[in-house]
Amino acid sequence: MPHGTIKMDKPPPPPVIPAPQKSTKYKGVKHTILVMSGKGGVGKSTFSVNLAVTLASMGNKVGIIDADINGPDDPKLLGVGEMKLYADENGIRPVQTKYGVSVISMAFMLPDEKTAVIWRGALRHKAIQQFLEDVVWQDMDYVIMDFPPGTGDEALTVAQLIPDATDGVVIVVTPQELALLDAKKAINFAETLKLKLLGVVENMSGFICPHCGNEIPVFKKGGGEEIARVNKIKFLGRIPLIPEIVQNSDAGIPAVTRNEALKKIYQGIAENLIKNN
Ligand SMILES: Nc1ncnc2c1ncn2[C@@H]1O[C@H](COP(=O)(O)OP(=O)(O)OP(=O)(O)O)[C@@H](O)[C@H]1O
Ligand SMILES: [Mg+2]
Repeated sequence: MPHGTIKMDKPPPPPVIPAPQKSTKYKGVKHTILVMSGKGGVGKSTFSVNLAVTLASMGNKVGIIDADINGPDDPKLLGVGEMKLYADENGIRPVQTKYGVSVISMAFMLPDEKTAVIWRGALRHKAIQQFLEDVVWQDMDYVIMDFPPGTGDEALTVAQLIPDATDGVVIVVTPQELALLDAKKAINFAETLKLKLLGVVENMSGFICPHCGNEIPVFKKGGGEEIARVNKIKFLGRIPLIPEIVQNSDAGIPAVTRNEALKKIYQGIAENLIKNN
């Protein structure tokens, strides 16, 4: 063998990584809902925030874990982007919002909005673990976890740490082929990790033209319902493409607090989610 080369007859065996223990510190939460998608930008954060506000308006104690360490958006969407965290003898206190929802996010720890979090997986894992274990979530009816797109470290960390009794995953899709293809991977991820699939939401589903009143299927329509049917997952509902959602989100206002029709849609989704799950 020439000097300096490495010869390998067969591939090395895969490393044996012991499964992490289920967390014993994340407790006192009645329901945890993991909001996932395959594709980015389909509206997970917008959905998580508006669902949380809707559940809170129905009399529940609700928290959000912004599990998107690199792109934390939830504080801004809830109008608390400038807040900082504080801790007491019980742990880190999530930031309270005027919508009755508490939130924890990497955004609260950054010096300003433009600072990037450039962390490898191990550090993101640690941050998520702290969000679960060191934050005071006791007595919450619902904790909603807003994930980055795909099936990466953050989702894996949570799937491995949360107790088995924790509820499961809501898949957000937009109806175009590419988003649906990626959603199948998120479904496969949940199945592989034995997480319960709570339902599918079709977001940006049709746009009502303000001029002619006709519905325009910008990203097509019905794909979310189809993916739910094929995979035998509950279809939770359809949210249209509404320009007001963008305007409100950019202003830090959950759109359900401003738009009656949207509020009703979210209430329907929340009821479907609660029913039989
Ligand atoms: N139903 C809707 N109608 C109109 N705009 C929407 C709707 N849902 C989400 N949006 C807008 O789409 C954009 C992307 O939404 P959002 O950030 O919630 O997606 P995401 O899936 O969380 O993205 P990422 O994968 O980057 O985390 C935002 O500008 C948001 O205001
Ligand atoms: Mg997001």
